[in-house]
Amino acid sequence: MIKVITYGTYDLLHYGHIRLLERAKALGDYLIVGVTADDFDKTRGKINVQQTLMERVEAVKATGIADEIIIEEYEGQKIDDIKRYGVDIFTVGSDWVGTFDYLNEYCKVVYLDRTQGVSSTEIRSEKGNIRLGIVGEGPLVTKHIDESCFVNGLEISAICSLSDNIKDVAKRKNIVICSNYNDLLKKCDAVYVVSHPEKHYEHIKQALENNKHVLCESPMSLSNADCTELFKYAKDKQLILMETVKTAFATAYNRLMLLVKSGKIGEVTSIEATCTSMRDLNKSISPDYSKIWNSICAWGPTALLPVFQILGTEYCQKKTVTRLIDEKHQFDAFTKVDFIYNESVASIKVGKGVKSEGNLVISGTKGYVYVPAPWWKTDYFEIRYENPVENKRYFYQLDGEGIRYELVSFCKAIKTGKPDSYVGEKITQAITTVMEDFYSHKDVTFIK
Ligand code: CTP
Repeated sequence: MIKVITYGTYDLLHYGHIRLLERAKALGDYLIVGVTADDFDKTRGKINVQQTLMERVEAVKATGIADEIIIEEYEGQKIDDIKRYGVDIFTVGSDWVGTFDYLNEYCKVVYLDRTQGVSSTEIRSEKGNIRLGIVGEGPLVTKHIDESCFVNGLEISAICSLSDNIKDVAKRKNIVICSNYNDLLKKCDAVYVVSHPEKHYEHIKQALENNKHVLCESPMSLSNADCTELFKYAKDKQLILMETVKTAFATAYNRLMLLVKSGKIGEVTSIEATCTSMRDLNKSISPDYSKIWNSICAWGPTALLPVFQILGTEYCQKKTVTRLIDEKHQFDAFTKVDFIYNESVASIKVGKGVKSEGNLVISGTKGYVYVPAPWWKTDYFEIRYENPVENKRYFYQLDGEGIRYELVSFCKAIKTGKPDSYVGEKITQAITTVMEDFYSHKDVTFIK
């Protein structure tokens, strides 16, 4: 009996896939099909897959061509599979010519002609490109422009920005530059809002009024009432309104959350998160504090994310200590917020113009998680125990600081009509409460 094996993602199964499977089967008597798992696809740069692994497996099964279906989960697995299943022929489409020649050592390698004119990528884009407009300033704008190239079905159609640097980048990339926000709204289906937090409410409201979906950099708003109103308005109009913190989309950060929630370090007793930077302040001798994000807005949402995701949003007490360097614009160079929960505590330290070790420590009754600085761009963390022999290190590739996954997630939310669950409404509201209390000086102590 001649055993044949082939691998693929098989997203939105199409005619090209079926022809490949039929010809693969015809090469022998028994066909094994390896369907790639989401994680493995991500590490090889395929981030836009629309169907879940189970849906893709079911689709391959439904063709009735495969005799056996397996999951491909790791680099190098092909060699293991060929040996384990006693495979005689390995085959894939001609788009891979040469890539798998190394398998000749273990079995025969056959490249089959790829069917012209059809691919999962094309089918994904056929559903129509989402035209994303960007309003705002800062390095996140150019990062989003760069990262959008990795996202199928999304194009940056226009920008509206005060920054000359951003306008230059847009010009180079042939992105339309709009001199006012109304014009921008005419040239897009969705908007990414990264303007100054004080402008967020107005920008989001106007976008929703014009039937545009919104992705907004956290904090979404500085007032809880505004936040509730915006969410309700978006729901009524069946539009997606999603707050974002890029760290929430980093694979390592997500795995870390799952490990903590599954009890790896026991019951969580304390969380300490620090995020600081010197940027902006160094650039100019007398900065315009009305234009730059203060510490609590720039770093607060990121630092608050693990606190609210792990301990929840129902804390008993919150105390804030802050050092304002510009009272008029409420510009804090450094702020520390302490939370007391029923059975745990948390503390965040944020700074712009103050530098500290930017790590994250989550302490539990069995052990603790340590994420080294800068933890918000995390690709690596450790779980440490009393007995160092039990310590474990985890590493996950971080592509584009999480931004490309954030954009994929936003597109998916628009296409399915279901809001994404990475940050979530409850956490958005809790972050907004911290902001509102800061600006209204509720439980805030000032230091000089
Ligand atoms: N394939 C093919 N003809 C096509 C598309 C795919 O023969 N028109 C083959 C590929 O060469 C591979 C298998 O089908 O052997 C699974 O490919 P996969 O990567 O899942 O499909 P694509 O349509 O190429 O997906 P994408 O556009 O996401 O790269």
